[in-house]
Amino acid sequence: MAIRKIREIGDPVLNKRCKEVTEITPRIQDLIDDMFETLYEAEGVGLAAPQVGILKRIVVIDVTGEDPLLLINPKLIESSGEQTGYEGCLSVPGKQGNVTRPNYAKIIAYDENLNPFELEGTELLARAICHELDHLEGHLYVERVEGPLVNTEDLEEEQ
Ligand code: NI
Repeated sequence: MAIRKIREIGDPVLNKRCKEVTEITPRIQDLIDDMFETLYEAEGVGLAAPQVGILKRIVVIDVTGEDPLLLINPKLIESSGEQTGYEGCLSVPGKQGNVTRPNYAKIIAYDENLNPFELEGTELLARAICHELDHLEGHLYVERVEGPLVNTEDLEEEQ
């Protein structure tokens, strides 16, 4: 396993649509392992493959630090409600912005054996799912921000 370099806003790889995964090769397995390691090292909530420079539809999420989720070829099948709150991204370091997302999201995705499963989430998990799915389409949360981006440090001082 290895920590991969996280691409930052301005890198064109973050604005490209990702390709479906059709086979779990040893390279893909290494990528998945590295993505989890990179996510935990960066203390993030989610990471999509394009953030480490790979245009594949692979996402890792862990909203508690103890619930690793691997989503391959995830597709949103249902969403409802609304939540507005500060959101950040490992590709936009030190910043956060207000984004409105569904409060409930349900997806179908594939596991490490390419078996399909459904996953539903509310609140932070719903936000993380929607944020990461956007990455696979080449979109960053900054495109959806309401109001200015703020420095994470300033937000922490307010709390
Ligand atoms: Ni992100």
